[in-house]
Amino acid sequence: MPKSTIKGLGFYVPDNIVTNDDLTKIMDTSDEWITERTGIKERRWVNNDKLSTSLMGTYAAEKAISDSGLDKNDIDFIIFSTLSPDYYFPGSGVLLQKKLGIKEVGALDVRNQCSGFIYGLSIADQYIKSGMYKNILVVGSEIHSGGLDKSSRGRSVSVIFGDGAGAAVVSATDSDSCILSTHLHSEGKFAEELAVIKPATTFWIDKIVKNDDDKSYFPYMNGNFVFKNAVVRFEQVIFEALNYSNLKTEDINLLITHQANLRISQYIQKRLKLTDSQVFNNIMKYGNTTAASIPIALTEAYQSNLIKKGDIVVLAAFGSGFTWGSALIKW
Ligand code: UT7
Repeated sequence: MPKSTIKGLGFYVPDNIVTNDDLTKIMDTSDEWITERTGIKERRWVNNDKLSTSLMGTYAAEKAISDSGLDKNDIDFIIFSTLSPDYYFPGSGVLLQKKLGIKEVGALDVRNQCSGFIYGLSIADQYIKSGMYKNILVVGSEIHSGGLDKSSRGRSVSVIFGDGAGAAVVSATDSDSCILSTHLHSEGKFAEELAVIKPATTFWIDKIVKNDDDKSYFPYMNGNFVFKNAVVRFEQVIFEALNYSNLKTEDINLLITHQANLRISQYIQKRLKLTDSQVFNNIMKYGNTTAASIPIALTEAYQSNLIKKGDIVVLAAFGSGFTWGSALIKW
């Protein structure tokens, strides 16, 4: 049975840097609060109408394909994870396909928010193991900035999120350097604890424009509740991946968690008794980029030579849905 490996990586973030001090000019917040509660110092927010979620994903994908040494026509399936698509429909996968100029391969959109990249990676891994496809492009891309409540009312959510895109080419291999396992979970009873619920088919736009006070088209997050669930689920799903391969926390060369909040990553590090060199974080520079955060961080770690052949790399995510998951990779 073929196995799958990450053959190429790439990421793209918009040029426009928004610092915590910049945010103090538009809402009641401070660098101290944001740094202490989240670890974030700056994020990228698109300030150019030409950039879209699918275009940023395309830029990241071009880099990942180039890094893989393959040609774009070698890609035989596309998986695009985002909670901030260009259009209500069609999905962003086909838009990326058009922009990349890839032939008529299948394109699938994944709507699993912060876990979207792990879900995409898991789907790619299964398709490759089944022999159906050989080179799958997995993309995570988000433009949050346009949809945030940037008034003081929305500050607990809007200071966290940033825009960006990351991509991986997942290819068939016979080698032992491969994705060892992926683990996916969800708990729909908490679907509304972190959500944008309007407008959609339950609340068409005409129902909300009649009420000026209804701001539920902005993201809502029950921050404390999400935080408490995140730390538990991250730990569980990381151990699930380690146990599956009979590995221990000491065997982890690099852990990359979804960059939700630096305090969450630090808490996990402490619980798992990992050293600083076993964990990679870059939320300080980019904020929380949802489905893009893991591929951006993985690419940065890889480009910084923090990942060597034979290393055990663990990826883990938790977010809206709730959904969570992990992937254990031998590099
Ligand atoms: O990516 C998907 C998963 N997402 C997560 O995992 C995020 C999980 N949650 C969190 O990261 C944290 O809950 C937040 C960073 C969102 C919020 O941190 P917190 O420590 O839970 O703060 P809080 O919401 O309990 O608010 C504490 C105080 C409140 O003031 P009072 O009521 O104590 O007077 C807020 O009004 O901080 C206030 N506050 C702010 N102050 C300055 C909330 N946001 C801000 C802000 N600037 N941006």
